Amino acid sequence: AQPLRIALAGLGTVGAGVIRLLESNRDLVSARSGRELEIVSVSARDRSRDRGIDLSPYAWEDDMTAMAARDDVDVVVELVGGSDGPALALARNAIDAGKNLVTANKAMIAHHGMELASAAESAGVSLKFEAAVAGGIPVIKGLREGAAANAIEQIYGILNGTANYILSTMEATGADFSSTLKDAQELGYAEADPTFDIEGVDAAHKLAILAAVGFGAHIDFDSVDCEGISRVRAADIAQADALGYVIRLIGMADIEMGDAAAPVLLQQVKPCLVPKGHPLAHVTGATNAVVAEGNFAGRLLFQGAGAGDGPTASAVVADLIDVARGEIGAPFSVPSGELVAMQPAESGGRVGQTY
Ligand code: HSE
Repeated sequence: AQPLRIALAGLGTVGAGVIRLLESNRDLVSARSGRELEIVSVSARDRSRDRGIDLSPYAWEDDMTAMAARDDVDVVVELVGGSDGPALALARNAIDAGKNLVTANKAMIAHHGMELASAAESAGVSLKFEAAVAGGIPVIKGLREGAAANAIEQIYGILNGTANYILSTMEATGADFSSTLKDAQELGYAEADPTFDIEGVDAAHKLAILAAVGFGAHIDFDSVDCEGISRVRAADIAQADALGYVIRLIGMADIEMGDAAAPVLLQQVKPCLVPKGHPLAHVTGATNAVVAEGNFAGRLLFQGAGAGDGPTASAVVADLIDVARGEIGAPFSVPSGELVAMQPAESGGRVGQTY
């Protein structure tokens, strides 16, 4: 079989991880794909930066949005980040040019996923974003494939590694918020601008994507009722501890019948009290964990590293293997057409909710 020819845009932590993974697991990846996976072209904002990897085997593109037009490319991997700008231009160009698209970009999928999915469907190409949600945990594949036969009743979990690292480290060491955030940045978990991590926005991006995949709703990021952890103090953690709880930043989506004739989707991200006996209370560090309740499978718990180069690269390459195998399929399960997201003001929040 012909190799799957890859254009890789973005050579930060995850991009470098993808190159390393493809080098070190080359044989098993090609055996499972039924063909070689070959990076032909790379691009990033800064060519001169030392990434500790040899880029000489790959053609360098100065204009990353032009990568999509190359005849020798079958799939574009977008690891640039940002909901708009060059990432979105590249994604649109790639799909318009009939290329498959693999992305780790949660902000872009949360804001433009429906547009990109419908363009990909028209163009007959794959749009894959396993790495956009919960790093190395195959939760999109778990919901789309493993739990495909279930009506999902509820999805909730820890969706931001930085916030979880901060909360669980403060809990274990009594360290203050800002020094713990600095550690998370040095470890490569936090976004360049950590505001999205600590204000719940990153978790909300992921929740909106998970909810769409799990419930067959349209992605509706603006309807996520979102509060971060920047107001959680060491004293709150100590008080929760005394009462038998830990504090975790939880993203939650479920369906409410309410008074409306049609069911509504409720989505929220909030610091929550979690009893020490609950599985989510034991999730520490930059780990993510997602619980999905299926009406036949029962409670499913997906847990693993939610950030970092190796885990996120693992999810990106899993998507590339799907593409190499020729798996297309709609990225979102068929929407009911009825299910709409409730606006935060209507939901009134669920302050103090426990799990
Ligand atoms: N900044 C994100 C986190 C990285 O901390 O979870 C993975 O999306």
